[in-house]
Amino acid sequence: MCGITGYIGERSAVPIVVDQLRRLEYRGYDSAGVAALSNGVNVMKTEGKLKILEQLVDGAFPESQVAIAHTRWATHGRPSVPNAHPHGDDSGKIVVCHNGIIENYLELRDWLQEQGHVFKSETDTEVLPHLVEEYFEGDLEAAFRQALSKVRGSYAVALASSHAPDQLMVARQDSPLVIGLGEGEYFIASDIPAVLPYTRDVLVLEDGDLAVIRRDGVTLTNLDGSPVERQTLHVTWDAAAAEKGGYAHFMRKEIYDQPATIRDTIRGRIIDGHVDMPDLGLHEDKVRALNRIYVVACGTAYHAGLVAGQTWERRLRIPVVVDLASEFRYRDPVIDERTLVVLVSQSGETADTLAALRDAKRHGARTLGIVNVVGSTLAREADSALYTQAGPEICVASTKAYISQLTAVYLLGLYLARLRGTLTPEAEAPIVEALQRLPDQVAALLQKEDEVVKIADAFMDCHDFFFLGRGMDYAVAQEGALKLKEISYRHSEALAAGEMKHGTLALVTGDVCAICIATQEHLREKLASNIKEVKARDARVLAIARESDPDIHKYSDWAIRVPDSLDELMPVLAIVPLQLLAYYVARNAGCEIDQPRNLAKSVTVE
Ligand code: AGP
Repeated sequence: MCGITGYIGERSAVPIVVDQLRRLEYRGYDSAGVAALSNGVNVMKTEGKLKILEQLVDGAFPESQVAIAHTRWATHGRPSVPNAHPHGDDSGKIVVCHNGIIENYLELRDWLQEQGHVFKSETDTEVLPHLVEEYFEGDLEAAFRQALSKVRGSYAVALASSHAPDQLMVARQDSPLVIGLGEGEYFIASDIPAVLPYTRDVLVLEDGDLAVIRRDGVTLTNLDGSPVERQTLHVTWDAAAAEKGGYAHFMRKEIYDQPATIRDTIRGRIIDGHVDMPDLGLHEDKVRALNRIYVVACGTAYHAGLVAGQTWERRLRIPVVVDLASEFRYRDPVIDERTLVVLVSQSGETADTLAALRDAKRHGARTLGIVNVVGSTLAREADSALYTQAGPEICVASTKAYISQLTAVYLLGLYLARLRGTLTPEAEAPIVEALQRLPDQVAALLQKEDEVVKIADAFMDCHDFFFLGRGMDYAVAQEGALKLKEISYRHSEALAAGEMKHGTLALVTGDVCAICIATQEHLREKLASNIKEVKARDARVLAIARESDPDIHKYSDWAIRVPDSLDELMPVLAIVPLQLLAYYVARNAGCEIDQPRNLAKSVTVE
């Protein structure tokens, strides 16, 4: 996600706001910019890294004590100077930095253009300064409130203007923003690390808060102007801990980000109860004419693809083949112009996945990327891109990106089925409702973390883990096994539970831990017998089952129960305890966790 900083006080503002941005660099970004108030509004923006911005602003502005700045993680519009923040209005007197997603930006932009406003970027953010300008009649704060009242979506926003050069304004809805409290000076930031070098006293804004910041104080209200009280937080973290939001590792922070990640991936894609993705450019006649779909990816992204394979084939009634990118490109698959090839990738830069994309395009397939990084090679080269809105994922072991990929897979599957006519609105409605319940269900599930901690402790003498499941649970088993092995360095493998008796059962002894994922209602009995099969060979069994499962605890050593949902959505819930299990086994073992040995976040070589 983007980084926002700001300063108002007696010191030189530009070096401070740029230094603050540097403390947010760990979040990842593709462009940056700064605006300073002195003799009007001075703006400088650049693609690339902060050091370029520092060189550009050095001596470029008149001395200023009020400034805002931004590092951009693109969500709408590719990385470019025009798309970098701050964004301004037509008058050049109002500038805004924003982090979040404005769902209704297209209709707002159309309306503003009808009022004569001229847009210079592809971003959703740019509607904000123009809205404020449209409503400005001398009272900047009132115009800011009115503008925000027209916005649907998420925002952390900082506004500076030569209409009111002795103040900054901020507001927050579903995207973090804090105000650092100094002596006669104040600091704005998307995240606490950016204010720590200057103050440890912080106001953490809540959703709906709006603040006007002057050198003599902060006036905090909600959007309709009623005063709001917020406790000052005295931060004791060091900078490294603060970058992780107080968590010990990015991995645990990103696991806890997952409810918000699901919301952000859904945001703006369910209109009147139906999934709608007009920006994909998929036309009904072409979708109806499809005769096969390939889903191609690597690692965790491949495991998300496995869920697509099962849900889409069942719903679309055409073959959906899921393949590892490193295999797909060498097996000369049958591809023609009626083939859709969907490539799943967090980074959008994985060499094998890109090679598969190019192969598919050479054979005339329609290509679609499910990708997290806007402007990545996959996003640019595929015929269309469905963004997962997970924000920057720092830990090499993918968690929130995986769950956002699952969410995107479900959304796309429903959309394709509606276009193909194999899903009625009546059938779609309960699935959409169940999808929208997932964020709260994942949040509730995270409250069971202590159960997982105890099980991880009990597992520490085990060095061979088998993850077993059937159907969707087998797809989850593969992701669970990868999580454990890649950060704890302990051998773990996933197996279709029905396959055990065809060989692997020979390995099962009392030294083995079997993690059995048993969430699929229609396969419950089958999996119960597989659990008994390994129990009979003295394996220790952890079962991941539904809250409604009547007897899983009778034949498992441990059972973690996850909230009930539709069978097809259960992977989103079943994976959470497995992510936590991997984390705690690795932490108990003293492993590095965020940067595991031998691995890279993006495998850009074959
Ligand atoms: C998963 O935890 C790993 N980081 C790895 O398997 C990763 O999912 C794989 O390399 C694919 O990366 P991508 O999603 O960026 O293409």
